[in-house]
Amino acid sequence: MNCRRCDRKASVHMRQHKLALCKEHYLEWIPEQTARFIKKYEMFAHDEKILVAVSGGKDSLSLWHILIKLGYQADGLYLGLGIDEGINYSHESQRLTEEFAASHNLKLHIVDIEKEYGQPIPVIAERSHRGHGKPCAVCGLAKRHEMNRIARDLGYDVLATGHNLDDEAAVLFGNTLNWSSEYLLRQGPVLPGTAGLARKVKPLCRFYEREMTAYAIMSGIEYIYEECPFADGSQSIFYKESLNQLETARPGAKLIFYLNFLEAKKSGKLFLEKNVELANLHPCPRCGQPTSTPDQCSFCRMIEKTQTETG
Ligand code: AMP
Ligand code: FES
Ligand code: ZN
Ligand code: ZN
Repeated sequence: MNCRRCDRKASVHMRQHKLALCKEHYLEWIPEQTARFIKKYEMFAHDEKILVAVSGGKDSLSLWHILIKLGYQADGLYLGLGIDEGINYSHESQRLTEEFAASHNLKLHIVDIEKEYGQPIPVIAERSHRGHGKPCAVCGLAKRHEMNRIARDLGYDVLATGHNLDDEAAVLFGNTLNWSSEYLLRQGPVLPGTAGLARKVKPLCRFYEREMTAYAIMSGIEYIYEECPFADGSQSIFYKESLNQLETARPGAKLIFYLNFLEAKKSGKLFLEKNVELANLHPCPRCGQPTSTPDQCSFCRMIEKTQTETG
């Protein structure tokens, strides 16, 4: 397949968008799309100060790379969690983050949980007896708290994270399975700021994980390939795998799941039964069944169309 923009051989095929691009045009397309999402969801303006939470992974490093490319004022924040399992996860991810910042001449704040609170995440988790022997819940709580604190203390307007579509769809899936309406109401690309809390944004929330992997590799970004050693067997990985199975059978399903949720939420028709426009139903003039489409119901319209086309 050839690139849609230049006719050279394509390097990336995106079935869900019915789009194929060569390397050069893919590296243009991702920032263009990001700029579109930033505008669409009113994430931030060029005169605002952005703090990007960077973990050393492909998503957050790519996000930083893209924001700089787009001309935003974006500094980085790395949180040292003190997870030395596996390949010494924290040490390695910090090294890669520092290297990225240095090679692109960017400002990086490093905050070490153990230095701030006297103990690394795994120890806090053990001592607090939270999370059934896994530090992930404690880690998530600590990360959110520290990101908020530092963004506020250092006077940033916006806090940006590298969550991609796979992350967001998995969270949405979990929240839907549990019907956690409060979480559902808060989930989205932007969480508005409040007194003492910076606005939170997820500019990559519409990109598939594999699209971000391709961007990072093609841009020559060195990132940590390993997942956190505690992530193994987590619920979010299980949800991601389930959604990927669905995606394989129905390309685009993941994106539609997320985007239709955002649409429904925006229109105010989600969760609030009284908003469902039952009043707008009228009997279809052809079959008499209640319908919300103007004039005939969708079925009758379809049948009529097939009849006029054959007749
Ligand atoms: P995760 O919670 O690991 O799925 O990561 C989601 C996002 O949180 C990443 O894309 C980063 O923006 C941010 N993040 C995760 N870990 C760190 C960290 N150690 N330091 C700074 N930001 C992080
Ligand atoms: Fe926090 Fe894995 S437990 S990143
Ligand atoms: Zn091209
Ligand atoms: Zn607190």
